[in-house]
Amino acid sequence: MIPSVIPADFSGVPKLTELASREFLAGLPKAELHMHLDGALSPAMMFALGQRNQVSLPYSSVEEIEAAYQFTNLQSFLDLLYQGASVLKREQDFYDLTRDYFLKCKADNVLHTELSFDPQSHTERGIPFATVINGILRAMDDAKKDWGISSKLVMDFLRHLSADSAMKTLEESLPWKDKIIAVGLDSSELGHPPSKFTEVFARARAEGYRIVAHAGEEGPPSYIWEAIDLLKVERIDHGVRSDEDPKLMEYLRETQIPLTVCPLSNVRLCVFDKMADHNLFALMDAGLRVMINSDDPTYFGGYLNDNYFALADAFPLTREQALLLAHNSFTSSFISDAEKQEFIDQLKNYAKNFH
Ligand code: HPA
Ligand code: ZN
Repeated sequence: MIPSVIPADFSGVPKLTELASREFLAGLPKAELHMHLDGALSPAMMFALGQRNQVSLPYSSVEEIEAAYQFTNLQSFLDLLYQGASVLKREQDFYDLTRDYFLKCKADNVLHTELSFDPQSHTERGIPFATVINGILRAMDDAKKDWGISSKLVMDFLRHLSADSAMKTLEESLPWKDKIIAVGLDSSELGHPPSKFTEVFARARAEGYRIVAHAGEEGPPSYIWEAIDLLKVERIDHGVRSDEDPKLMEYLRETQIPLTVCPLSNVRLCVFDKMADHNLFALMDAGLRVMINSDDPTYFGGYLNDNYFALADAFPLTREQALLLAHNSFTSSFISDAEKQEFIDQLKNYAKNFH
């Protein structure tokens, strides 16, 4: 399974057809473009903050929290995600959560990340928008200062709530609009198509936000078409059900609209029965621009490198394919072309000098 498009940047790189070792994958310079901050809350931090902030949880130990993470579909996970997020109250909590994730970025050689946050999960229970975003932004600044990790912030609307609630959240975000690169759509997909939010996204575009949306994780290809035609997305989060619609596949190949695929998430939420059934490489072979992401790493059993490792365990993942995934992670990001080129140069040097 050799990808049909290998960027010119890698011509002349040795040993492209060799299988990628764990060492090769671990050190690969990479970006992450689909990661929910509330989904990076570790059971240990959840338990400690629950006690500290006097939020009662239905668990009496960290081990009980871990044992509860058995999901049958997206909703069974979201119920626990929102319950867990209720322990976050102070600005420092949002800082600590974000800082914890950046530590993992450092360990996984993630050079750039585009973090999603769901303000409504917090504002709906009385936490001010400013408390949430100021904690996150401070941790983003510190990660840049301390470790040189670059990051952008994406604000997702909860699609199970009303379009009015999303519009109110959009308006609340405007004082921070130069700190938020894009808006997106997450939460319960089935029954909440992108068309429900057409006006909200039109307003977001008018305010200068870039656009992404979860679509085609559990929902049908028609939801992906709506995200493209009505919301005017520049990236699709998940999108793995694209392969059910040949016209959509052709459109995605021609436009190169990226899909931010999340392998461990898809298996844990039963989108695919097992990793070997995942369609990532089929999408890649069809010429779509895909890359891999962790989605909600503390809930789905791994951060970004764990996703690379899980794929390498289930498929004969070559260095060439790994480089293409990492390359796509940079080219699909919302940074400038000059910044993209700097990261791609680092990737090329890595591949040339790896022994
Ligand atoms: N899908 C929808 N909503 C989410 C997800 C997801 O994978 N993760 C966190 N919120
Ligand atoms: Zn997601």
